[in-house]
Amino acid sequence: MILAVSHQKGGVGKSTIAWNLAVHFSKHLPTTIIDLDTQQSLTQTNQIRKSQGLDPLTIKHVSNAGELALHIENDKPNALTIIDSGGFDSAFNRVAIVGSDLLITPVSDKPFDLMGLQKYEEILKSLSEIQKETIKTNVLFNNLNPAMKNFGDLIEFICMSEHFELMTSVIRQRVDIANSIGVGKSIKEFRIFSKADQEFDALFEEVKLKLNIV
Ligand SMILES: Nc1ncnc2c1ncn2[C@@H]1O[C@H](COP(=O)(O)OP(=O)(O)OP(=O)(O)O)[C@@H](O)[C@H]1O
Ligand SMILES: [Mg+2]
Repeated sequence: MILAVSHQKGGVGKSTIAWNLAVHFSKHLPTTIIDLDTQQSLTQTNQIRKSQGLDPLTIKHVSNAGELALHIENDKPNALTIIDSGGFDSAFNRVAIVGSDLLITPVSDKPFDLMGLQKYEEILKSLSEIQKETIKTNVLFNNLNPAMKNFGDLIEFICMSEHFELMTSVIRQRVDIANSIGVGKSIKEFRIFSKADQEFDALFEEVKLKLNIV
């Protein structure tokens, strides 16, 4: 199974979400991260994890889009690959979009996120035309102000597009989330039963259902 966390917009939480999904699912089935982030955020986080005496995750690097396509081709149904896409549009990221069984696109309520999503929709549209099927991504609200209740224009835009499906899970802005990654841990390993931990548990359940993981 291939799960890609993808958005051409930078800083929306792709690496953060991919990391927590990977730590969680690696406890249940063989899980590999493919790190396409130019800053290699998760490769660095994994090194910190190792230095803390925790079991490191399996991280794979690919040097071109063909190599990524080959990995996807050899995908096994009883294993999970989580692709942490870079925050830009590229052949790499397009192969990840087309080859994934589940696409997750984090967005926040910050100004410009609507514009970022409009640009991403254009990419999904053009890939859908090439593939002759409607490519859909699961939009995940992440890094939301904990007090924020009204999603306004953004939610309207998401619901109107055939390329977007809104996830029911929501991850709010929590300092624990940034701090846990800083020490190479998932949120659950950092502060169990915290609000962030509960929000991620809901996300894991939703992803499990969407990927049909038993
Ligand atoms: N829910 C959250 N609560 C608090 N901080 C968050 C949350 N999500 C992301 N962040 C912080 O936002 C910043 C950007 O997150 P992250 O690096 O995961 O984004 P990205 O989409 O992978 O960025 P890039 O496109 O540069 O790869 C980081 O400092 C991260 O700690
Ligand atoms: Mg990243």
